[in-house]
Amino acid sequence: MGSPPSPTLPPSRGKGVSRRAALLSAFAVAACGRDARSQQSIPARGPEPPLKSLAPFPVGCAVQSDQLADPAYAALFTRHFSQLTPEWEMKMEYILRPDGTFRFDASDRLAAFAKTHNIRLFGHALIWYAQGPAAFERLEGEAFANAYRNYILAVAGRYRGQAVGWDVVNEAVTEDGSALRDCLWGRKLGEFDYIRLAFQYAREADPAAPLFLNDYGLDYNPAKRATFLKLAERLLKAGAPLGGLGTQSHLHADLAPGAYARAIRDLASLGLPIHISELDISLNVRGLNFASRADLEQRQARLYGEAAEAFAALPERQRFAFTVWGLRDSDSWLRREKTPNAGADGPLLFDSAGAAKSTFWAVADAVRS
Ligand code: G3I
Repeated sequence: MGSPPSPTLPPSRGKGVSRRAALLSAFAVAACGRDARSQQSIPARGPEPPLKSLAPFPVGCAVQSDQLADPAYAALFTRHFSQLTPEWEMKMEYILRPDGTFRFDASDRLAAFAKTHNIRLFGHALIWYAQGPAAFERLEGEAFANAYRNYILAVAGRYRGQAVGWDVVNEAVTEDGSALRDCLWGRKLGEFDYIRLAFQYAREADPAAPLFLNDYGLDYNPAKRATFLKLAERLLKAGAPLGGLGTQSHLHADLAPGAYARAIRDLASLGLPIHISELDISLNVRGLNFASRADLEQRQARLYGEAAEAFAALPERQRFAFTVWGLRDSDSWLRREKTPNAGADGPLLFDSAGAAKSTFWAVADAVRS
């Protein structure tokens, strides 16, 4: 899975050939095994161009600190990505020990790696309904409120000046979009106020980083998307420093063509920066019977292309980052799910050996134009 030698760019051919197009065509020539001048070419899978060189916006990937110890993983990740999201080690489940003390060893390793390789660090996630640990459960009243503020100040404050943004509150809207989720934070501080306060404290900790509201299912479920946008507007009206919207984008290959692009346009309607924050496209589709895996993979690649094109079509000030939720298929959380065929899923841009798949080329082609 090493990085192939990158060929030199072809001599500039005058106006109209963008750097990205030239880069991709240079790799295409290399991929064909023969010099284009000879007009003899044998199509072959060649060295893929660095995605971060093609995309006019940051491209991110979810990473776990132990993965960086693998030189092949680290080489592939640093070749293609300009932003790192800690997959789980910057969340409360890792940082907050049962006795209420904090551990930052893993998140610090990820932050140090990002700094060494000049990669943006995106903080994920300060407050999540799914992680309300015992250390908080046993607190009441002012003690709870103080611990809530202190946690956010400690974590967001630690990466102040390095984190380029934060998922401040993750998944605040119910699955069906009918309400705000019931959770420990809402029960103790108020269903809206825990969200508003989280943004307030994150801004107190970090005066500059854009602060995101992040959720899933905003592509499949227009009702959930509408509730999510209403929450965003309510936060803005309340003076919360909401600086962006994260759409996780955990998709299945059977999502109807065009639905994702519509969702992105809708989410962008508030004018806030958009983060495609956790994109993966599962081949384990529900309900539809496809003729073959090849058919599914074709739809999957087309959907990756749609997602990249929809994001690329946003105004530059709204293109925060395009992040995939894992590097290689074998790294995907979906492989760890207890669902049928999880082990055979191929949701990402690189296969388990680190080779670029049709999904990679669909994104590369979509972002280069
Ligand atoms: O690595 C340790 C292993 O050493 C240990 O033996 C094992 C014992 O349980 O835990 C392993 O860590 C697990 C980690 O994933 C790495 O696999 C954690 O227990 C497990 O909680 C953690 O799950 C993560 C999950 O969020 C909860 O934090 C997933 O990796 C991660 O992909 C998933 O990501 C979420 C986003 O944050 C929010 N959107 C949905 C997305 C998918 O669920």
